[in-house]
Amino acid sequence: MSDETAAVPALAVLVSGRGSNLAAIFRAIERDDLHACVALVISSRADAPALDIARMHEAETRVILPKSFASRAEAGAAIIAALQEARVQAVALAGYKPILDASVVETYPNHIINVHPSLLPAFAGGMAPRPQADALAAGVKVSGCTVHIVTADVDAGPIVAQAAVPVLDDDTVESLSARILVEEHRLLPLALEWLLSGRLRVEKSRTRLAFAGTTLA
Ligand code: GRF
Repeated sequence: MSDETAAVPALAVLVSGRGSNLAAIFRAIERDDLHACVALVISSRADAPALDIARMHEAETRVILPKSFASRAEAGAAIIAALQEARVQAVALAGYKPILDASVVETYPNHIINVHPSLLPAFAGGMAPRPQADALAAGVKVSGCTVHIVTADVDAGPIVAQAAVPVLDDDTVESLSARILVEEHRLLPLALEWLLSGRLRVEKSRTRLAFAGTTLA
């Protein structure tokens, strides 16, 4: 970490695939909209294109393959060790496919954020593009994305922000996903900024946001 980034909060981003949300985080940092540095990118796959995006931005990368551990708890311990070594304050799940072990969630309470491509609690559970396909199959007229705090219950943690998009008559999974993705790229860095700047308070199943320039006691 350079002296320039040492003063800003350190963030880890967990990925498994394409990495467009990771790229959005880097763009927000470059624009000065997100006051953080990506201290570590952990991928659950060695061939994830997201790793190339991380390397392009000279971020530290680690591949932690869930399958190489005897249990989810052991994989969790490896993730915790990597996060602690990188001294991160918060974690973003950006297209991270494995279910995180509860020990990771307990080590960073209310400091792990996920982005999901539906308006939760609708279409929870599946990985992209399943929620988008399920939304189309259900015939909903509006879908979108949700950024939420990660808890031990998958896709059920307190909601930080949501953005809605229309579902059009001729939408395909691809066209709907692309429309939702634009909102994901806007919302995930915004929610991370709220969290890292101390503006976000989690109260049981809800979150509250302080006004700009103030922090919650
Ligand atoms: C996104 O749609 C995200 O909501 C979901 O997985 C996808 C990841 O895309 N959890 P990318 O790897 O960030 O491009």
